[in-house]
Amino acid sequence: MKYSRRTHSCGELTSGALGEKVVLAGWARRVRDHGGVIFIDLADRDGVTQVVINPEAGPEVCRLAEKVRSEYVIEVRGEVRGRPEGTVNPRLPTGEIEVACDQLEILNPSLTPPFPISDDEDIQEETRLAYRYLDLRRPRMLRSLQLRHRVSQEVRRFLSGEGFWEVETPLLTKSTPEGARDYLVPSRIHPGRFYALPQSPQLFKQMLMVSGVDKYFQLARCLRDEDLRADRQPEHTQIDIEMSFVEADDIFLLVEGLVKEVFGRVFGIEVPTPFSRMTHREAIGRFGSDKPDTRFGLELNDVTDIFAGCGADFIRQALEGGEIVRALAVPGGSALSQSRLEALVEFCREHGAGGLIWIVFREDGTIKSPLRKQLTGETLDRLRRQLGCGPGDLALAVVGDEETASEVMGRLRLKIGRDLEMIPGDVFNFLWVHDFPLLVFDEELGRYAAVHHPFTSPKPEDIPLLDSDPLKARARAYDLVLNGTELGGGSVRIHRREIQEKMFSLLGIGPEQAQARFGFLLDALRYGAPPHGGIALGLDRLLMLAAGLESIRDVITFPKTQKAVCLTTGSPSEVSEEQLRELHIRLRGREKE
Ligand code: AMO
Repeated sequence: MKYSRRTHSCGELTSGALGEKVVLAGWARRVRDHGGVIFIDLADRDGVTQVVINPEAGPEVCRLAEKVRSEYVIEVRGEVRGRPEGTVNPRLPTGEIEVACDQLEILNPSLTPPFPISDDEDIQEETRLAYRYLDLRRPRMLRSLQLRHRVSQEVRRFLSGEGFWEVETPLLTKSTPEGARDYLVPSRIHPGRFYALPQSPQLFKQMLMVSGVDKYFQLARCLRDEDLRADRQPEHTQIDIEMSFVEADDIFLLVEGLVKEVFGRVFGIEVPTPFSRMTHREAIGRFGSDKPDTRFGLELNDVTDIFAGCGADFIRQALEGGEIVRALAVPGGSALSQSRLEALVEFCREHGAGGLIWIVFREDGTIKSPLRKQLTGETLDRLRRQLGCGPGDLALAVVGDEETASEVMGRLRLKIGRDLEMIPGDVFNFLWVHDFPLLVFDEELGRYAAVHHPFTSPKPEDIPLLDSDPLKARARAYDLVLNGTELGGGSVRIHRREIQEKMFSLLGIGPEQAQARFGFLLDALRYGAPPHGGIALGLDRLLMLAAGLESIRDVITFPKTQKAVCLTTGSPSEVSEEQLRELHIRLRGREKE
């Protein structure tokens, strides 16, 4: 399509266009006055073109050109010509040409921006977010927006090709529990009533299966009031998927195809399929995490048996009380200084362990360890064999209950991997973690809570455990993990009403409450709900990891800070008394005033 104002974008012209009359428009990124000849780097989202204003352009054009400052919006007309010898810039696609300007119009002047519109500057994030529209004008950020667009397009293309329909579900709805707090919206028409913004479209997509939609997807905005981290935002987007008449394996196959296409076509990253798989139990045992980073070794080992025979009273007593010992070996770790070892002990204490046992296997065959006297030759030999330790290596072990020992060792493993730079940056290790436990016991609430969400099906063979030993029941749930980050999660769902009711009752949701909160779902399950399952992948996280970025905020157009504030618009903000009155709300703080 031809547009009426511009003939080309600022990233398009090459020596193939020499002699052409062109019209460009954009932002004057850099202006240089070489005594009578003015050079302007004219930029838009596609690139930069050098514009030259010579005295031959006439006094009027020169006068205007002298007024142009950084980030003024201008339109130029002129002829494409080759750059003089020695001034060609091979790093720019447009680096062989320049536009000799014969007409110039200032479309809009600009204040001096609070930071240069450039990728080279290290700008404080607060300033970037306050002026997000300028931050996004930087090439790196525009590229990030474009990548996001391309990923969305690929997802739509791939899933449509597989027979999925894109279906929208409401934003003003009822609470959909995904483990976070709800954002609530007061109703003006119904005093004292609130909508909840969806934490995910979970229940709608399940109802769509009852409707016979069969294959659903949505690029769904999800809203969760939870503590924020580098990979979490109050609003995020999920590639949300649900299918009828499927098993977990079908979802794995579909998602592997989707991820392969998106990574290949958008990022040029070859992703081998099928992805590795691991049960939750194995992940915890080998990596001390339900989202293991499998790019490096340092795997954990259970060495409880070996330590059972050691002479340290505190260990013997702990083991008699049912605690365990998890250990890992750091190849070449004997080089770590005493103070670094002490820092590791402190790290483990901070994360809930009583301490950390360290054993340095010296090159000369002797050992250094605070437990040296209590460790017999046999214990050390067995430890060496089990951990595969040799001279020059370091063994680290934590004693504790299974959960603490695993978790602390999992964290320690990651810390050492990072500190010793053992984690390759250019590898993409996808992993399915499956067979999660169905329930955990929430000490704070004093009851069971769903590990995934309350709509996840137990494994059929574990259904009897719901009565006898609920914590042992496994779920038909799976997570997709990429390099130690949870990229997606899903499950085969409960499609039988009686099992859903049972699940609610285990979660302490009585029949009345279940009817009040989820009656629509329970009813829908009575009208021919097909077996179904699905998954949701975090679109923001996928982009962040594929593009190699540290923060999720760099792939979200207008993100919130760690304190859930939008610095661009200043939300959340106070509202007028009149608005509150319309919503039938009186603020507690104001009441006191
Ligand atoms: P879940 O809660 O595991 O599952 O979320 C799915 C994926 O969404 C991403 N994600 C987030 N990304 C950024 N900020 C957040 N606050 C945030 N929370 C989650 C993660 C996560 O893996 N309804 C289920 C899916 C299902 O069962 O089909 C759900 O929402 O990448």
